[in-house]
Amino acid sequence: MTQKEICELISQMTLDEKIKMIHGEGFFNTGAVERLSIPSLKMSDGPMGVRHEIKPKVWEDKYETEDFVTYFPSNVAIASTWNKDRAYESGCGLGAEARGRGKDVILAPGINIMRTPLCGRNFEYMSEDPCLISNMVVPLIKGIQENDVAACVKHFAMNNQEEQRMEVDVYTDERSLREIYLRGFESAVKKAGTYSIMSAYNKFRGEHCSHSKYLLDKILRDEWNFDGAVISDWDAVHDIKKAVECGLDIEMGTNSDFDNYNMANPLIEKIKKGEIAESLIDKKIEHIIKFMDKIGMFKEDRKIGTYNSNVHRENILKTAEESVVLLKNEGVLPLQRKKLGKVAVIGDNAQKLHASGGGSAEIKALYEISPILGLKMVLGGDVSVEYERGYSQDTEKSEILKQSALELAKNSDTVIYIGGLNHDYDSEGLDRKDMKLPYNQDELISELLEVNPNTIIVMVSGSPVEMYKWIDKAKAVVQSWYAGMEGGFALAEVLLGKVNPSGKLPVTFPLKLEDSPAHCLGEYPGSDKKVHYNEGIYTGYRYYDKNSVKPLFCFGHGLSYTNFEYNSIDSQFVEVDNKKYVRVKVSVKNIGDRDGYETVQIYMSGNCGNMDMPVKELKGFEKVFLKASEEKEIVIDIDVDDCMSYSEEKECFEYWNDEVKIMAGSSSCDIKRECVLCFALKKMN
Ligand code: BGC
Repeated sequence: MTQKEICELISQMTLDEKIKMIHGEGFFNTGAVERLSIPSLKMSDGPMGVRHEIKPKVWEDKYETEDFVTYFPSNVAIASTWNKDRAYESGCGLGAEARGRGKDVILAPGINIMRTPLCGRNFEYMSEDPCLISNMVVPLIKGIQENDVAACVKHFAMNNQEEQRMEVDVYTDERSLREIYLRGFESAVKKAGTYSIMSAYNKFRGEHCSHSKYLLDKILRDEWNFDGAVISDWDAVHDIKKAVECGLDIEMGTNSDFDNYNMANPLIEKIKKGEIAESLIDKKIEHIIKFMDKIGMFKEDRKIGTYNSNVHRENILKTAEESVVLLKNEGVLPLQRKKLGKVAVIGDNAQKLHASGGGSAEIKALYEISPILGLKMVLGGDVSVEYERGYSQDTEKSEILKQSALELAKNSDTVIYIGGLNHDYDSEGLDRKDMKLPYNQDELISELLEVNPNTIIVMVSGSPVEMYKWIDKAKAVVQSWYAGMEGGFALAEVLLGKVNPSGKLPVTFPLKLEDSPAHCLGEYPGSDKKVHYNEGIYTGYRYYDKNSVKPLFCFGHGLSYTNFEYNSIDSQFVEVDNKKYVRVKVSVKNIGDRDGYETVQIYMSGNCGNMDMPVKELKGFEKVFLKASEEKEIVIDIDVDDCMSYSEEKECFEYWNDEVKIMAGSSSCDIKRECVLCFALKKMN
């Protein structure tokens, strides 16, 4: 539609009709204007698949059987693959399923920074690092939107904790806002062209994000030129005038008194009284119609999508396989089927299904393969596998369960422990109280390792957990996330060596909670409903590096069943299509006897005037498949615009200057090669 056509359409609309389009007339839809053939917008959560249908007037499952869907790996699992193709395929799958279910907007992806290990929604987010988020979220959004569905990137912005999420007021300096917290959103807008964004519940610098002129008008609309729709989080609008006067377009909510939403009848009254100008509403309608047009809502041949397809299942299996992170391995993995003897599988998460938990990310999964089912599927018949739960929420039972588990472990040759967290802990609306494993698991694991020192420890969780009580005794530790409906099968393939693990941590695993920057430098959860991010730009590995604090497992860490050698590094400036890049070439060789993936991570250590700089920052990465003994030269182009730091003094990003150290590594603390490039970018512009 042309701008003129949009304006003409708006000029034909009555005030009541306009109002229908800017607030929820159902829990997940706006109103339609049938007279002008404008349909209602149908939305659905969320990041791990298209959510089940909810009744029209009460927030309850409709209990239908037609809304079972593909359960996709969580965002943290997708990010752990460090594979942009996997992110793109996940997006394509999610978009197609949303259309298949008749939706226009999928309320995903969530990309808030993982600031604290305690945040209940970390599993819905991607990383502590803005570069990893940006690189993964762009293909994911493109995949979604290629299906004539809008992504709704959430939660804009600074929604980094669930504790007091409705009212907590976040304060951070401008540099960390720009360099860390907004980078992913900026890429979602500028590079992926997301059609919608969800404004967060919390406040930022004294103002609710859904009313924030600074976030929604100055940054999002003016600086980033966003012309899509801003949709409020559910019940995030508190003030009619403020909401209408800033860049928010649609108010959504959780109560069924839809006519009394702020941006419904109360707004009509204010307009009629002359307290709010109707022209402000026209701008919102313009945004909404534009994005409806982009997703083909006015055309005959709009994509129709499909759900539960074989392709989606095949793709999520690949993602799940690549998301498993081998944290530690002293020669015990992979397991060899013929040498297993009697197998003991222990731990509640071996049999627990997670799809239906977590809050708005819950899914009615078509199926979900638990780890024990996956193990049995991969092992085939004739292997003796016995199971003991080992722990439970019920503390009275836990001693009995522990003793039975230890007994089984004593009488078995191979012991696989599968524990960690579940959605009672990794969940919307709450943060964990600490980073400890719940249900006395530390004790159980320590005792299992006494009984069988080769016990393999698998953690299923969406966030790091403390492991220091037993980590030195464990020979093999594996991190498996909520990895979708094929997750249990993928884990089993990795344990049995059918798949060579290639996941890398998208977040630092601290030794103890107190080591984590939000907790030792910053505030969490804050006091008097205010939280100051005093750690500034030193989130995640930026903090551990700067202060020489050794984490349990560092950002980017993940082992393979083979080994890689980095043989050379070289860098230069290049120009492609009139844009300048730093081209880094790294030669990597698989020196083991198994084929496998390596993720080559490029970190840089820059200088920017007299600014305080991190020791290094991730600037690019590439995941590469290398056959046994194969060597490849990997070429990674890094946009020079990403080699900038935000100057609070000048209120803009500044190019780096002087010598920049460029490092290629297998993780943030395993740098293999480095070189130096001299930056004089001001002259090049
Ligand atoms: C969550 C959003 C979600 C919305 C709709 C809110 O409570 O914060 O992420 O999309 O509910 O279910």
